Amino acid sequence: MKIITTIVELQQELEMHHLENKKIALVPTMGYLHEGHSTLAKAARQDNDLVVMSDFVNPTQFGPNEDYENYPRDLARDEKIASEAGVDYLFVPTVDEMYPADGGIRIEAGPASKILCGAARPGHFNGVLQVVSKLFHIVQPTNAYFGQKDAQQLALIKLLVRDYNFPVTICGVPIVREDDGLAKSSRNVFLTAEERKQAPVIQQALQQAKDNFLKHHDKEFAIQNAIDMIETKTSGHIDYLELRSYPDLQEIHPETNQFLLATAVYFSNVRLIDNILFTIEEI
Ligand code: PAF
Repeated sequence: MKIITTIVELQQELEMHHLENKKIALVPTMGYLHEGHSTLAKAARQDNDLVVMSDFVNPTQFGPNEDYENYPRDLARDEKIASEAGVDYLFVPTVDEMYPADGGIRIEAGPASKILCGAARPGHFNGVLQVVSKLFHIVQPTNAYFGQKDAQQLALIKLLVRDYNFPVTICGVPIVREDDGLAKSSRNVFLTAEERKQAPVIQQALQQAKDNFLKHHDKEFAIQNAIDMIETKTSGHIDYLELRSYPDLQEIHPETNQFLLATAVYFSNVRLIDNILFTIEEI
């Protein structure tokens, strides 16, 4: 695996591979890699000739009160995990390399960025789409890999690619779960022992909401039932629990056939997110 820090060097490395029509995968990350990132890299490895992983803590997606400076970083560990997962090029640019000049041009992620997780993080998804667009231009990947755990991010990236005609296929990688159904996350360690026992209820509630919706076609009933389940069986407080169309994240309507059921739940020291994507064909 090669570590590359400049855009020019990465583009020179990739030039020959592009000329040879190699299938190039991009796995964007902010580093501090964990099992979720390895899963993305391994999926990329399977379907492509080359895997490029970016490792860049992107300042433009952090709000003024969010701790950009203290975001965890550990490049030595990242190098080991990335290389074991089959990455060919680890792209680790500096902030100056990615943002050398500021012409004031911004990406506005639109209404779907202001709901769900975006409601509490104004401008966050503008920054995500900005850096992802730059990475798409720099790497020109055939396929780009994102976790379905961050379903709103994945949806917005799909909309970006659709609306701005990026010649890349977006591959959503399914959520990896613990044996009891809790979505894996590096944040799960912040749950108390009691909360950890309760947390699988989140996925059970989403599953029940999905089943109820497909059976009764009653969104309000399905959502309320899931909220009640989380509120009675856990000590968590629900930030949101919503059923929306996917990937445009609009209110559902009779023609909607792809759905996102998503929730965020606050426990004492951590906020967990989870979701289910499903289609009407599952009836
Ligand atoms: O999901 C993340 O880690 C980041 O939002 C991404 C996609 C790498 C952009 O900085």
